[in-house]
Amino acid sequence: MNVLVTGGAGFIGSHIADALLAAGHHVVVVDNLHTGHRRNVPADAAFHQVDITDGERLQEIFERERIEAVIHQAALANVRESMSDPLEYARVNVIGSLTLLELARKHGCSKFVFASTGGAVYGEGYSPDGDRLPFTEASRPQPKDNYGANKLSVEYHLDLYGQNYDLPYVALRYPNVYGPRQDSKGEAGVIAIFAGAMLQDTPTRITGDGTQTRDFVFVGDIARANRLALEGAASGIFNVGTGVPTNINAVHRLLAGITGYALPPEHTPRPVGEVLATYLDSSKAAKELGWRPEVSLHDGLQATVDWFRTSEAA
Ligand SMILES: NC(=O)c1ccc[n+]([C@@H]2O[C@H](COP(=O)([O-])OP(=O)(O)OC[C@H]3O[C@@H](n4cnc5c(N)ncnc54)[C@H](O)[C@@H]3O)[C@@H](O)[C@H]2O)c1
Repeated sequence: MNVLVTGGAGFIGSHIADALLAAGHHVVVVDNLHTGHRRNVPADAAFHQVDITDGERLQEIFERERIEAVIHQAALANVRESMSDPLEYARVNVIGSLTLLELARKHGCSKFVFASTGGAVYGEGYSPDGDRLPFTEASRPQPKDNYGANKLSVEYHLDLYGQNYDLPYVALRYPNVYGPRQDSKGEAGVIAIFAGAMLQDTPTRITGDGTQTRDFVFVGDIARANRLALEGAASGIFNVGTGVPTNINAVHRLLAGITGYALPPEHTPRPVGEVLATYLDSSKAAKELGWRPEVSLHDGLQATVDWFRTSEAA
């Protein structure tokens, strides 16, 4: 299939491009290199340095490359920045996504797969059965930032395109994704930030007491979820997490063991509004997409550290 992967020069998108090429698809990457890197794009993929809000350039690419499906990863994804620059976030994350959706509809695409987020869409959230955690797809979304609201609004647009135009879609709600090629200077990827700092023997910082929990999933598992979403018949919204809460102190300890880092972490004040606990129930993805995470946290951390050791990015 001819698949457009937006954000394919980024962390997750480049692993998706690898997985699709390995499965025999033709991959066309669109990325404006805002945070992505040309070196992340696999050699066998076509690459266009284009902004997802540029409808005219995208239209040409859909026609020339005969795009049959879209895997949409490109986004502005800095939660704090989304609060200081809400209009730019809406322009890229909402208008950019709608631009792609319109083109997918006009070109009769067979599937639109979207990178949504569990953490920012559920926020503190609650579950209808009274147990807040783990979040299921039936939990009420309650974004606490513009980034989460952007992602949720795209999910609504996907649903209405499915209803009105029969455009099959899958929105994958990722938890905290980690692995090779994640930016160690980024805002959100705590594992990449720790791994980068530990390998350079520089101080590490934990917000609050470090007992806050997250659901960490390896990027290779997320790439496989995207491939299954593309190739399968299922449509709708799916959590793709491990279902295992891991606290930040435990991540620090595991990574320190793998890297041989001896310094204790510094503790800084917890940012206002930080979610204390989040993890995802992914039984719907297991049932309908045939997806389960396969890489243990320890193996995933080892693979991440191995990559940082050999890459210039560390
Ligand atoms: N990393 C995570 O833990 C996580 C969790 C939940 C959801 N997500 C989502 O997964 C997707 C991929 O995230 P990532 O972690 O790989 O981040 P990333 O920053 O590495 O990748 C995003 C890519 O999108 C590109 N991009 C940004 N704005 C663009 C624009 N206007 N036009 C074209 N390209 C543009 C960037 O250059 C980059 O290559 C995003 O949609 C993000 O919101 C990530």
